[in-house]
Amino acid sequence: MMDDGRVGDGAPGVGGGTVLIAGASELVTGDPQRGAGSLGIIDGGAIVVEHGRVAWVGPLADAPQADTRVDVGGRTLVPGFVDSHSHLVFAGDRAHEFTARMQGEAYDGGGIGVSVAATREASDDELRSLVAVRVAEMRESGTTTFEIKSGYGLTVEDEARSLRIAREFTDETTFLGAHVVAPELRESREAYLDLVTGPMLRACAPHARWIDVFCEPNSPHAFTGDESRRVLEAGRDAGLELRVHGNQLGPGPGVQLAVDLGAASVDHCTYLSDADVDALVGASDRTVATLLPGVEFSTRSPYPDARRLIDAGVSVALASDCNPGTCFTSSMSFMIALAVREMGMTVAEALSAATAGSAKSLRRNDIGTLVPGMRADVTVIDAPSHDHLAYRPGMALTRVLDLGIGRHSSE
Ligand code: NIG
Ligand code: FE
Repeated sequence: MMDDGRVGDGAPGVGGGTVLIAGASELVTGDPQRGAGSLGIIDGGAIVVEHGRVAWVGPLADAPQADTRVDVGGRTLVPGFVDSHSHLVFAGDRAHEFTARMQGEAYDGGGIGVSVAATREASDDELRSLVAVRVAEMRESGTTTFEIKSGYGLTVEDEARSLRIAREFTDETTFLGAHVVAPELRESREAYLDLVTGPMLRACAPHARWIDVFCEPNSPHAFTGDESRRVLEAGRDAGLELRVHGNQLGPGPGVQLAVDLGAASVDHCTYLSDADVDALVGASDRTVATLLPGVEFSTRSPYPDARRLIDAGVSVALASDCNPGTCFTSSMSFMIALAVREMGMTVAEALSAATAGSAKSLRRNDIGTLVPGMRADVTVIDAPSHDHLAYRPGMALTRVLDLGIGRHSSE
């Protein structure tokens, strides 16, 4: 739930319960007004936290008095990673699919049915513990805010319980009943769409902030542009905000639809026409292109052209898409490394996309940067600079900074 703690802007000498985070080699504020370069880096920068919010940032020498001091021992501080796209509520295992893909099998979404069967079989407690483990993995690797979608239940009850369980972990829950057509209605797509836009939506809306759809005419299991529009419009009428899976497996209508309907995010964006890019440029104040390079890694597919998007002026985010089929990792450092190595992004662009960019895609203005008033969601990199995120791929360098109020020891 959102924290309503308030702090005075840049207030030195703030009152009781303040914590000074000192000893950083580099502080990435994410605000170019506050430090060097596009990331607003302050060498030797410090943060004062009060009531869970950033109260002050600046060079350590200028830091105001605080009640408690945490020393991070020469490490790097960055805004907590924001993972705006994940599918953590599922049971079962699909490792064999990954292995087959590495031998040349193509991905078409058909394996989603395997996870649906296993998820329906699982008890609430089993599903809850599976999600808890996956959320713990996210936090252990430096993610402080995350979205979770349903989409492996595909009945009224199984979608609603997936979202109820997801809500125990995050406010950023997304109804994805339109992931694929449920197996029992494979022969009657219309009947499934009636269910998703009717009783299933009514049961799920109270537990969701967002609605999403797998808009993918290149998969026989997913939804066409017209079907996707119907799902999104019904969701919007039920008070949900919009996200779209689009242009993942081939060119398609997902991006245009997302822009047309004012969706907060269109995710994947692997196959884009010039018109898609133009549409995203025109909508850059409200629709973010979320890139999920772990999917291209795990499906052995071509990566999206991030350079083309950024150079054109599109708003770009990075997220994990952690799911059992196309990408079973939630490591945002890994996404940053892939973005740099495979998609032509600079480390600064990739880090910004994984923090401020993802925050924008969730329409959140309280996370994604470390400036006064923002949530004190701080991630520590066990390295002297943020470049190490991509320079040392696969190393467990990142974790969420534990502010344990009252502790004086070094981190
Ligand atoms: O985002 N594209 C659709 N959904 C997921 C994959 C789901 C699965 O294969 O289980 C994705 O890639
Ligand atoms: Fe996804």
